Amino acid sequence: VLEFAGVSAATLAETYGTPLVVIDLEVVDAAIDAFVHACAPHGVEISYAAKAFVSIGFARHLLARGLGLDVCSTGELLIAQRAGYAPSGLTLHGAGKTDDDLRAAAQGLVGRIAVDGIDELRRLAAAARAQRVDVLLRLNSGVEARTHAFVRTGGDDTKFGIHPRDEADAAAIIAAHPHLRFAGLHAHMGSQIYDSQAFAGHAEALVDAAARFAGYGLMSEQAVVGGGFGVATQRGADERPLDLDETIATLVRRTAQRAQALGIPVPRIGIEPGRAIVAAAGTTLYRVQALKRQTTRTFVVVDGGMTDNPRPAIYGARHHVASVRRPGAADIDVTISGRSCENDELGPARLPHDLQAGDLLAMETTGAYTFSMASNYNRFPRPAVVAVEGGKHRLFIRRETLDDVIRTDADG
Ligand code: LLP
Repeated sequence: VLEFAGVSAATLAETYGTPLVVIDLEVVDAAIDAFVHACAPHGVEISYAAKAFVSIGFARHLLARGLGLDVCSTGELLIAQRAGYAPSGLTLHGAGKTDDDLRAAAQGLVGRIAVDGIDELRRLAAAARAQRVDVLLRLNSGVEARTHAFVRTGGDDTKFGIHPRDEADAAAIIAAHPHLRFAGLHAHMGSQIYDSQAFAGHAEALVDAAARFAGYGLMSEQAVVGGGFGVATQRGADERPLDLDETIATLVRRTAQRAQALGIPVPRIGIEPGRAIVAAAGTTLYRVQALKRQTTRTFVVVDGGMTDNPRPAIYGARHHVASVRRPGAADIDVTISGRSCENDELGPARLPHDLQAGDLLAMETTGAYTFSMASNYNRFPRPAVVAVEGGKHRLFIRRETLDDVIRTDADG
């Protein structure tokens, strides 16, 4: 019997319907424990990247566990506020901040803002008229990590970060402004990075930048090295999860060595994991709508697809799929497909030969960037998200109704 934290998949599907995203909080907590174990001895601060998955209930859980929260929009900020986060626990991100975003920082609704560009810094400077705003400057460490091009944010060919040619101007703007306070530097390499050395090299590059800013008279108290800690998403695939203890210890040691060599104070290090906290804790339950034995392949059409899980279509992501009725059995090769009016394949799977319409399937490792990227394409309602823990279950996000789906139509 397939179960999560002592609750059977069948019970969850019957109670909440399908497609259903199940978040196992015991798995989340184990991931948090692993990060805390790696970070606490070195004083490394952890701020969870809400974009991976967030709801008010989930944010409350993270707050209770003592994590900071990275928000990248006023929508995520609202969730953080409703969950009870104080501004000091929040960092505002975003690659193209709107006036509303900048106003939120200027009004002190977040503890710090990671500014990603010289134009944005000028706009923030204009907005910051009343109170102190702590600023992290987002740079590009130049480290091109080996990952999917869509999620690579370091290296020369990306929109991210303040360009080195603008660093002196950025420093001058902050130094001259009465309300802007330089808190330090930030850079994020990308996502799904399995190379521990890449993290250390990335941190060293930030220390080099801190030395340049020290030359402009600005001391970096903090160096926030972003997220991107890789997790295995497909069983048997050649994705070796990072050794977190070793990755963090190496990063911290090399940061300190570099800072000492350059004669600057050692910055406090921060990390921003998203996927590595929540990916493995998530499973999507689908109900089989039809088996279609076509000429070359057998398709298993489920009651969701690219609308609730766009990662296979966008990134070619693959997730292990198990049959809930007979979890161990794997007899025939099939292609899982969604119910959208196009080839919305969710990937290959091996499933029991007697699979039939009405059966439940469990797609693993869908906790990160799955619900948070879901859409209403085809006017499908978005699924419910349920949390499980200690044999109990409760809703994080209820299933959308058809009324929700047409809520914003002006002529309703
Ligand atoms: N910090 C910053 C500034 C970020 O932009 C991100 C993710 C993170 C931290 C967290 O990275 P993580 O630890 O989750 O890898 N939708 C894509 C992933 C986009 C990541 C965007 N930024 C996917 O589904 O693979």
